[in-house]
Amino acid sequence: MKLKRIIIVVLILSLMSALFSGCNFSKDDTVTQIKIGVTLYDQYDTYLGQLMDSFNEFVTESRKNGNDIIVSVYDASNSQTKQNDQVKEMIEAGCQVICVNLVDRTDPSIIIDMARKAEVPIIFFNRELVESDLMQWEKLYYVGADAFESGIMQGELAAEAIKRDKRIDKNGDGVIQYLVIEGEAGHQDAILRTEYAVDTLIEAGIKVDKEGSAIANWSREQAQAKVAQYINEGGEDLEVIFANNDDMALGAIDAYKKANIELTKRPVIYGIDGTREGLQALVSGNMAGTVYNDKEGQAKALYELAYDLATHTDISDVGLTDAKYIRLPYTKVTIENVYDYLK
Ligand code: GAL
Repeated sequence: MKLKRIIIVVLILSLMSALFSGCNFSKDDTVTQIKIGVTLYDQYDTYLGQLMDSFNEFVTESRKNGNDIIVSVYDASNSQTKQNDQVKEMIEAGCQVICVNLVDRTDPSIIIDMARKAEVPIIFFNRELVESDLMQWEKLYYVGADAFESGIMQGELAAEAIKRDKRIDKNGDGVIQYLVIEGEAGHQDAILRTEYAVDTLIEAGIKVDKEGSAIANWSREQAQAKVAQYINEGGEDLEVIFANNDDMALGAIDAYKKANIELTKRPVIYGIDGTREGLQALVSGNMAGTVYNDKEGQAKALYELAYDLATHTDISDVGLTDAKYIRLPYTKVTIENVYDYLK
């Protein structure tokens, strides 16, 4: 009789611990279901959409290997307040880890406070918060790339082409007239890509003349409108366009096509990202080069780190720098190697 009572108490206790442990299952116990939350600053962003396609492929693969994984993806629609609420909701829903693509990279404190209280690790990605914020708690991580590297590569691509092909200096004045189309103001990638692309061109010994810069918030449509306005105002003397991403480079190309300006009379146009559409524009000769922003590498790192954190697996071999960062390298893409990326 006494033994029966003990068995019942033990059973009740283990049931209660299973019910209340929520995110705290350890891998050695049974993590029956892995719940990963993701919130994107804007679901219509082309690059992030393709990064998430790749992330979902890793999840599908993992399910085939027998893992029971639920991934909830939220769109913050450019509102930090909305994103804060989404993180709260994901914590309450029992997500064991949350991947946050911050709306405002200078304003992560509410998210950090909520996560710390609930003991739910956060992996920030693509939109980099400042280091002091990332250091606020040990279970905060960042997955992305080193933005300055892409600026240098974009500048090198242009410098190599200008030295090789004298026709790029269309008016033959020995000076390259250029325009920069910038992403969002305050975004680390926009600031550093702009600065390093131009500096690299100058350091390569090329004389430059800045014809202007336009903010187009990563958007193809906004870039098209800005460049169309430029063309209308008689700015057809441009020789190089640096766009902070492929979508804006494509917008510039759209503007030249609409204005019926033939390829040889257009500036050479460079992008960054290597999106599917960006790579196609290289193949068709409309874009001179891009810098590959390794979405598959970042998606893999994001997925693996999320999986390990959710299952309390040792993360010492996922390649973290300073126990916090995973940064994937950029690579240059031109017509010579574009097919390697289209595979
Ligand atoms: C950049 C990318 C842009 C845009 C932005 C959003 O890394 O090059 O295309 O996606 O992130 O934060």
